[in-house]
Amino acid sequence: MTTEKIQELLQTGKTPLYVFDLGELAARIQYLRQSLPENVELCYAVKANTFIAKEAGKLVDLLEICSPGEYRICEEMGIPHSRFVVSGVNKQEDFIDASVASDEPIGYYTAESKNQFLMLLSAAEKNGRRIKVIPRLTSGNQFGIDKDELKELIREYKDDSRVDICGIQFFSGTQKTIKKLRREIEFVDQYLTDLEEETGYKAEKLEFGTGFPVAYFEGETFDESAFLKEFSELLTGMRFTGTITLEIGRSIAASCGTYITKVVDTKQNSGEHYAIVDGGMHQIVYYGQFMAMKHPKIRLLPERENTDPQEWNICGSLCTINDFLVKKLPLSGLTVGDVLVFESAGAYCPTEGISLFLSRELPRVILLDGAGNAIPVRDHIETAQFNMPQNIEKQG
Ligand SMILES: Cc1ncc(COP(=O)(O)O)c(C=O)c1O
Repeated sequence: MTTEKIQELLQTGKTPLYVFDLGELAARIQYLRQSLPENVELCYAVKANTFIAKEAGKLVDLLEICSPGEYRICEEMGIPHSRFVVSGVNKQEDFIDASVASDEPIGYYTAESKNQFLMLLSAAEKNGRRIKVIPRLTSGNQFGIDKDELKELIREYKDDSRVDICGIQFFSGTQKTIKKLRREIEFVDQYLTDLEEETGYKAEKLEFGTGFPVAYFEGETFDESAFLKEFSELLTGMRFTGTITLEIGRSIAASCGTYITKVVDTKQNSGEHYAIVDGGMHQIVYYGQFMAMKHPKIRLLPERENTDPQEWNICGSLCTINDFLVKKLPLSGLTVGDVLVFESAGAYCPTEGISLFLSRELPRVILLDGAGNAIPVRDHIETAQFNMPQNIEKQG
């Protein structure tokens, strides 16, 4: 985003502020599609950023929804249910039942355990609906089903009239190297081969979830085009010939977001320079940041020559000594009223932070459409209401 555009947005209201650029999002998805094999579908996990779900929903094949709240958001945005992958380790029975009963069938469900699979089955039976399910194979954590148990489950239910087991899902983790991904893809490919040989079940779909790497910090080098080329070769080299859906996590959304916060105070304590900003660590979350030691890509406004910089500790508005956004950031002539612009803030920043701490306001959110027009979609929101006793009427 240009400096002029940021200056223009700063005139429209207070900081802190998130700006999500839909033009950048579209370009990003197009780039990913062009770089991946043709039999690959893209799935956007709305947890990364719910504000851009509508636009992302038009550009990807599927949207992963992990809670009733995310379901509601996507429904209100008018995204067709056929694009929903209803997922999540905690699938509430009433929610699953209502989704199965809805007029528009859900794309498919994941099953994270045998219990969840049976819950889905009974919702299908109760509503007289045949539903599509992809059980998740574990990668050795709390997600998914153990490999032997999954084999037995598929053997038992592959011909069941209530459920169409269209394939399997595998979540491998995030920010993995190609070497690790190669091992995981080989493991999944072998599993699918064994599954067919041992049970006669041939999967049509593989949903492979690995969060693609994002280079958030200064000095990090990541050759994404080489990564995508090698990853694509791994996929095309598989014996599995069905459809591959990639849920690549934050990598879709990170680059489209900018977080803008203003310096409200400066001081020098024990020889160290501190700047207090009106945002805080509850609003800007970077995977891999460690005790604010790494330097994300940040612009200082008004722009100036970075001559004779001083090292600044950038701290937020929370009452905790942990509220550091960045330590020892070299900046020239930092003063109250200056603005810090954090790049690559499109994924998880608005939803992952401890936003109720200190009852501070939630930041404004502005979308930029493809032509660069600003669309305000959320004003500052008071959070005090969530942190005080409510009048709960006694039941019965
Ligand atoms: C299927 C799948 N893919 C990817 C991810 C995470 O990717 P990231 O952490 O890079 O956003 C998750 C996290 O829950 C996931 O379930």
